[in-house]
Amino acid sequence: MTITDLMPYLWPVALAGGAAATNRTATDRTATNRTATDQAVIDQTVENLLGRMTTEEKVGQLNQRSAGNATGPAAQVSELSAMIAAGQVGSLLNVADAEQTNAYQALAVERSRLHIPLLFGLDVIHGFRTIFPINLGLAASWDVDLIAQTARLAASEAAREGVRWTFSPMVDIARDARWGRIAEGAGEDPYLGAAIAQAYVHGYQGRALADPDSVLACAKHFAGYGAAEAGRDYNTTDLSERTLRQVYLPPFRACVQAGVATVMAAFNALAGIPASANPFLLQQILRKTWGFGGFVVSDWNSIAETMAHGTAKTAADAAAQSLLAGVDMDLESGLYLAQLPLLVRAGKVPMARLDQAVGRVLREKVELGLFERPYVPAFTPIPDLPSVARRLARVAAEESFVLLQNRPRGAGRPLLPLPAQPGLRIGLIGPLADAPADMLGPWSARGRPSDVITLRTSLADRAATGHMAFRYAKGCDAVDEQPSDFRQALAVSRESDVVILALGERAYQTGEAASRAHLDLPGRQQQLLEAVAATGRPVVLLLFAGRPLAVAWAAQHIPTIVAAWFPGVEAGPALVRMLFGDVNPSGHLTATFPRSVGQEPLYYNALSTGRPLTGAGAGTETRFTSRYIDELNTPLFPFGHGLSYTTFNYAQPAAQPGAISVAALRRGAKVTVTTEVTNTGDREGVAVAQCYIRLTGTSVARPVRELKGFQRLDLRAGTHQVVRFALGQDELSFWNADMKQTVESAKLDIWIGGDSATGTPTTVLIHD
Ligand code: BGC
Repeated sequence: MTITDLMPYLWPVALAGGAAATNRTATDRTATNRTATDQAVIDQTVENLLGRMTTEEKVGQLNQRSAGNATGPAAQVSELSAMIAAGQVGSLLNVADAEQTNAYQALAVERSRLHIPLLFGLDVIHGFRTIFPINLGLAASWDVDLIAQTARLAASEAAREGVRWTFSPMVDIARDARWGRIAEGAGEDPYLGAAIAQAYVHGYQGRALADPDSVLACAKHFAGYGAAEAGRDYNTTDLSERTLRQVYLPPFRACVQAGVATVMAAFNALAGIPASANPFLLQQILRKTWGFGGFVVSDWNSIAETMAHGTAKTAADAAAQSLLAGVDMDLESGLYLAQLPLLVRAGKVPMARLDQAVGRVLREKVELGLFERPYVPAFTPIPDLPSVARRLARVAAEESFVLLQNRPRGAGRPLLPLPAQPGLRIGLIGPLADAPADMLGPWSARGRPSDVITLRTSLADRAATGHMAFRYAKGCDAVDEQPSDFRQALAVSRESDVVILALGERAYQTGEAASRAHLDLPGRQQQLLEAVAATGRPVVLLLFAGRPLAVAWAAQHIPTIVAAWFPGVEAGPALVRMLFGDVNPSGHLTATFPRSVGQEPLYYNALSTGRPLTGAGAGTETRFTSRYIDELNTPLFPFGHGLSYTTFNYAQPAAQPGAISVAALRRGAKVTVTTEVTNTGDREGVAVAQCYIRLTGTSVARPVRELKGFQRLDLRAGTHQVVRFALGQDELSFWNADMKQTVESAKLDIWIGGDSATGTPTTVLIHD
């Protein structure tokens, strides 16, 4: 089954396809979804409302409060209901279900003076009730259509319960695996990140916001949050303007181009200026350059936190600075509500700016149709997930798995796929083998552990139907450091023909406020791994994690390793189908796996140095090159890496024309690069063809490789396909020495291959 088979069940999603950025702008979103007359009606509605509102009622629309679980300091909201009835709340987050959204909505719509409906928001990050793999896992599919479909399903489930706004997608580029929130994004690459970001926006926002199952998307966290120093969450960031523009901003820009309705300002200070009070980001770039037309929300309490940053002296300063910088809605600090009326009266904040912010919020409420349909029909959550939702979750999980290595054991064949051989004795060991809540990963909205089918359940079923023997032992706790007794696990291991080891992180060890200074297997798991390996039985290692782990020992001693991330509700069925080869793994890493934590931040699209290490690594070169004396420079597994049960050959790419002028590129000419990809193995599989470039001879140093295109190719054994990538001004321009985005004369090397580390380039000359 492919995603296209599911299309009749899901709303169609207009995608750009492949990785090409769409040319739609924020204004186009309005234009494509609505006629000019509708637009005028919306403007009129908003104007009328603004004209009737008191200053307090206006400020109320900018006040967002949590009605449930908190992820940070929460203001006391004992009188939440009274506040809503008094028009002091414009939006709520973390409301439990349809019944509660309707109950709160009744307070706003029936009791408040102007009857303005509430907007309900929630972190619907990788599914609402149907939980898909974590976003880093979904990204490993390189399948933007699939990702859009997961977002579409999540939107329809959320909207049914009254949630019309998701704080997703998180489009922060993450180059440091210590940062826990790497789990929530698409990884380290801006080009892939931009394509995936657009897929989420299209999926969530659907055909038109007025459709009852569309939700507002929110591009977050603007900006630079993923560059937190030392990978420590909420830490400061300090990026050059060039790196900010080239690496961290493109996914946000792509969201704006896709018509994203809202943007969330980040917690971090960027070069000393908090992102939640940063006019350069929020006005200069977001509004003036990109033409963003929706509204900006702060992050949780981030307006008040400008005082801790040290840029706001008082609560009043904090509120004024954030509003004036461009934050329209206050998530949870309560400072807008408390301070803005006074600030407006004192003339410190112009009424026009307040009206602008309120107008933006009201506009989205009108667009969603909340004034006509503030309530959702009574809805009793279903006991089990519909099969179509499960199928999508299973396909998503299957596409997320990355076969990191599958070396033959001795002279034999690789361990995977497992032979479905009656009598085969399978041992399943590890703390993640039967951990339903962990399979949901961080941020699991209304996901339920009871919806999860674990690996233990699915493998036991498969063994039973296939007349195989199955035994399970947990082995040790995932995080507990206390010495464990591995006896049972070792007994299972010794009596098995193959051992599946399910190791890794607990879900709570990833995501927000879950940065790690160590990237190895937590608790006693490394000892368990070594003890099981020492039994000499063949071992398949499944790594459950929300980030790349530094598993150098495993890579050396365990021939077969799969990155399984946190796969969601269909973890078990998807893993078993992958293990037995019903489905062929096709995931490719979107975040580099380091050998050791000391290499972090580690990412493929780095700049060269003046003393690059070109040889094999430590020990083979002169000391005075850019290297460690105790570790290789290379990653354990590079960006783009991912194996299959078949093999693919990439022919040497060819480019046309061999030389091109800067002027021609500016006029729209393109370099076309093609190669032939052949399935050289004995079974069907999906190759992810990746196109990388390097520019040299330019006014600023360019990365040693940059992704500029990708395509998933489904190839039967022995067949081949020609892939073609077009490289034009968009792909070849960069922020030059004068901080202008432009094409320059350069030597252009182009690779097409199955990862970011291999292949021989073809060269094109870009001349003046
Ligand atoms: C997170 C955001 C999230 C918000 C609301 C914050 O702590 O940084 O990503 O959307 O809480 O839950």
